[in-house]
Amino acid sequence: MLITRHAEALAVLADPRYVPPPVRQDAREGTLAWLRAHVSRFSTGETHAARRRLVVERLAALDPAKLRAAARAETLERRGEWRGVPTRVLGAALGVTDTAPVAAAAAGYLSGEETPEADAAVAALLARADLPAVTLLLQGHNATEALIENAVPRLGDHGDVEALLRETLRHDPPLRATRRLDTRTGDEVTLDLVAANRDPDVFAGPGRFDPARGDAPHLTFGAGLRPCPAPAHALALAAGVLEGLREGSGR
Ligand code: HEM
Repeated sequence: MLITRHAEALAVLADPRYVPPPVRQDAREGTLAWLRAHVSRFSTGETHAARRRLVVERLAALDPAKLRAAARAETLERRGEWRGVPTRVLGAALGVTDTAPVAAAAAGYLSGEETPEADAAVAALLARADLPAVTLLLQGHNATEALIENAVPRLGDHGDVEALLRETLRHDPPLRATRRLDTRTGDEVTLDLVAANRDPDVFAGPGRFDPARGDAPHLTFGAGLRPCPAPAHALALAAGVLEGLREGSGR
């Protein structure tokens, strides 16, 4: 089933009958599939709550303002070569100094596509960081880079980077869909976040890119029982990169 309406998406995300599609639990320790079987993102019930608590605790020790300043400084230092900056900054804050394997591990994190490269990257990360830190790095990597990528073309037109990022999240979500399993029927449900974020019942002129819209209730960070625990961190990292790009280009 495909859900495209905002209200229906909210209802599914708030209903415990819908769970993330289960992932395999029989993988060899230290592989990508093993990691997916041990993170909050793909678990349910009490296990999910306990794992989520661990990442939330870790996030609480990070100061978004410091992440933003560090992302800005590193983007300037690298003369606008911003790829990898959010993850390096987040890694440094979590005490993980070498985040080079994150991109390869993150490539299969959501899809579950198992490759020798992804397995080797996960093993390398687990050798230098604990599970909550690795979870945060893998969860954040692709979505934060995609958010920046989607916002950069409009950077010259909009002064307020936070408003630009907020509207980019709604209009061009870096994460375009999320899935659930209906535990009553066994049906898989796909939530189309692009469509829900343009539901005309919720957003006036939904196709118009309008940073002045304010705090519009987009669903790009999820909602309900298991929303993204790190919107402030993601926005801080992205805002820091955009500021660095703007300053570096003299705009
Ligand atoms: C623009 C960037 C980001 C977007 C759009 C985003 C979006 C999301 C969404 C939609 C979910 C929930 C998935 C679902 O319910 O099916 C989620 C979960 C999560 N996100 Fe983010 N995220 C972003 C950045 C980050 C960053 C930077 C971190 C870490 C610092 C992070 C950590 C997490 C974690 C740990 C979860 C799992 C929560 C749980 O299992 O309860 N995210 N994210």
